[in-house]
Amino acid sequence: MEKEIVVSGIRPTGNLHLGNYYGAVRSFLSMQEEYNCYFFIADWHSLTTRPKPEDIQKSVRTILVEYLACGIDPEKATIYVQSDVKEVLELYLFLNMNAYLGELERTTTFKEKARKQPDNVNAGLLTYPTLMAADILMHRAVKVPVGKDQEQNMEMARKFARRFNSMYGVDFFPEPESFSMSSKALKVPGLDGTGKMGKSDGNCIYIKDTPEEIKKKVMKAVTDSGPVAPNSEKPEVIQNLFTMLEIVSAKDTYDYFNEKWNDCSIRYGDLKKQLAADIAAAMAPIRERIEFYSKDVDLLDRIAKTGAEKARESAAATLREVRGILGFRK
Ligand code: TYM
Repeated sequence: MEKEIVVSGIRPTGNLHLGNYYGAVRSFLSMQEEYNCYFFIADWHSLTTRPKPEDIQKSVRTILVEYLACGIDPEKATIYVQSDVKEVLELYLFLNMNAYLGELERTTTFKEKARKQPDNVNAGLLTYPTLMAADILMHRAVKVPVGKDQEQNMEMARKFARRFNSMYGVDFFPEPESFSMSSKALKVPGLDGTGKMGKSDGNCIYIKDTPEEIKKKVMKAVTDSGPVAPNSEKPEVIQNLFTMLEIVSAKDTYDYFNEKWNDCSIRYGDLKKQLAADIAAAMAPIRERIEFYSKDVDLLDRIAKTGAEKARESAAATLREVRGILGFRK
């Protein structure tokens, strides 16, 4: 039986952080054996925020190194750079013809970005969900490992797939589902009291951080003056620390601190020290492999080249059929 197809991507806008790792990358890793996986670096998507031209190749390489260091295996999965697969632009154009201004304007990510960069509300930002849908539908993927913040974009991708099928009376694109290793999509919190960990929020712990850097960041996490009554509900900043423990640490560790919270004997300093040590331990092998891969530029180039060839083959096959469905020459 043919393996089902999985696609996922990350914008090259800096180093991978724990949100990327636990929210998405770790889910990719669990799928490499069973699925036909395409993991790419979304360099075109990063243009919506106008990166400096001199930074683009460096940023792409950083993600490539870190993807590999996390354990994505180029022998099993296809790793490629989005801009190496020009076919995606043709599908983006076709999908844009059936994407409506109102629905694009209503997406939360668009509204947020428009608020953050009011003097650069460009059409690329508006059509970000169609480009993302093209990335996914390009390979006719059924599963997409992503964090919780991508749910609305995923909803749009499903809508565009459904609309295409019904407009042309075909059953061509599957409706792609979000996938998470945990039972529901993850939102990795920031430890500074703001909702999620994110590059633009400046609250990231990076997978490349040293144990000392990790400890420094975790010890600075915002807390309160402690529980006031046994078994009380945790305020958001404390819940964030517990969510991190739940994601990174062993269940026993979580239960231990949870009990301490419930009987009001918790010492946040102890919790933070444990959390920092657990994050550092989880990231140690990854950090070593980052060193290894960063040194081998030839290997990185070969992996990206082979990945692009495989991705283009899959993309070209989809495009031929899409052109036929739309009435264009194949
Ligand atoms: P990006 O680059 O913002 O983030 C990459 C992945 O990391 C996840 N993530 C998080 N998950 C949980 N908690 C967090 N704090 C956190 N921060 C980031 C994101 O959910 C994402 O899965 N639009 C995408 C890139 C993309 C894409 C695609 C993804 C383009 N085309 C096709 C999947 C399929 C983005 O900006 O991710």
